[in-house]
Amino acid sequence: MTEEANQLIVGVPKETFPGENRVAVIADTVPLFTKAGMPIVVESGAGLRAGITDEQYSQKGAEVVSDRKVVFDRGQVILQVRGFGANPTNGRSDLELFRTGQALVSFFEPLTAGDEVKAMAERGVSVFAVEMIPRIARAQSMDTLSSMATIAGYKAVLLAAGLLPKMFPMLMTAAGTISPARVFVIGAGVAGLQAIASAKRLGAIVKGYDVRPAVKEQVESLGASFIELEIEAGDSEDKGGYAREMDESFYRRQQELMARVVAESDVVITTAAVPGKKAPILITAEMVKGMHPGSVIIDLAAERGGNCELTRPDEKVDKAGVTVLGPTNVPSTVPFHASQMYSRNLLTFMKHLVKDGRLNFDMDDEITRDTLLTRDGEIVNSRLREIFGLEPTSERSDD
Ligand code: NAI
Repeated sequence: MTEEANQLIVGVPKETFPGENRVAVIADTVPLFTKAGMPIVVESGAGLRAGITDEQYSQKGAEVVSDRKVVFDRGQVILQVRGFGANPTNGRSDLELFRTGQALVSFFEPLTAGDEVKAMAERGVSVFAVEMIPRIARAQSMDTLSSMATIAGYKAVLLAAGLLPKMFPMLMTAAGTISPARVFVIGAGVAGLQAIASAKRLGAIVKGYDVRPAVKEQVESLGASFIELEIEAGDSEDKGGYAREMDESFYRRQQELMARVVAESDVVITTAAVPGKKAPILITAEMVKGMHPGSVIIDLAAERGGNCELTRPDEKVDKAGVTVLGPTNVPSTVPFHASQMYSRNLLTFMKHLVKDGRLNFDMDDEITRDTLLTRDGEIVNSRLREIFGLEPTSERSDD
């Protein structure tokens, strides 16, 4: 592959986070990147755990190289699932492979990875963190968090179904009638709505609840009933349509009112999140005690502290016969489709960033401005500068 004008070579290394099965670009997306002026150099074996062979990459026009260093040497932009901030232990050895002026596009968990952000800035790398893509209509097709939440919501239901000592659907058999499982989904954002839809498809009786009353209609359109709690939520939604953080008394009242629905459920799936904050505790140990033995809680918010008081990230907790599971990397357990969706999101994001074969650092553009963490040795993201106690920079629109 020769470097041609108006082309930007994209490097795709193998993921190194323990248990990470996804890959940033799948073989089927390679021709679309190439057509957009972004030829792909991929590390040998990068797609294997997602079910994609080196041959498939080659057939689709990617250059497959066995030396990881070559991927970093050739790539002007590196695409990863987990950049250094989201892979702090194993990602460290990649630091020296990056060079000044290079760019990285990946999940980075920047709000909690200060040291890693600084290290990348010092290395002179321009880091774009995809979890910072704003949830605006224009960026919908780049929204990696929504893609991964869709997968997590679906898989949460399957995890619950696998653990529950009951079946989900109602069955009328010669051996009698089997009553359907009762599933309660708390938090009806992207993951929650997908969990509701998946549980319905399996035949369960599904209830949903969210602090934002605006989602009632969406929950009902999926065939679930919406639980309304007699509690004054006030202004529960921010400008971006996300939940606001509520005060302690609100969460306490919510727990009291929800205890009955939780106790009546075979499965509870929790997905309640407030951007940038610890997940609110919605299910106390006491509420778990009120559930029937054999019931299952899947806490998708485990990574951010969990919605259930008993959740331990990536552990299976058994409390008097109730199982509490807090899996933290669910999308990686469905690596083929997770990679497919991620890959398409990155393609749209890259097309947005690249102009005439070069990265266009248009700081007047909300998507570029919100996602760019570092550039020219500096942390340039205003949200991060505020968190790290740095003076605001004057934003530039040059490239
Ligand atoms: P989202 O922001 O679309 O949805 C979260 C929902 O929770 C919102 O609708 C919000 O109104 C609701 N909520 C907030 N506080 C609440 C409360 N006190 N009571 C009831 N509802 C409340 O987020 P998304 O994308 O659906 O993700 C949901 C969660 O799943 C997040 O914590 C995310 O980190 C997690 N997640 C976990 C994965 C895993 O592998 N475990 C993978 C993907 C997402």
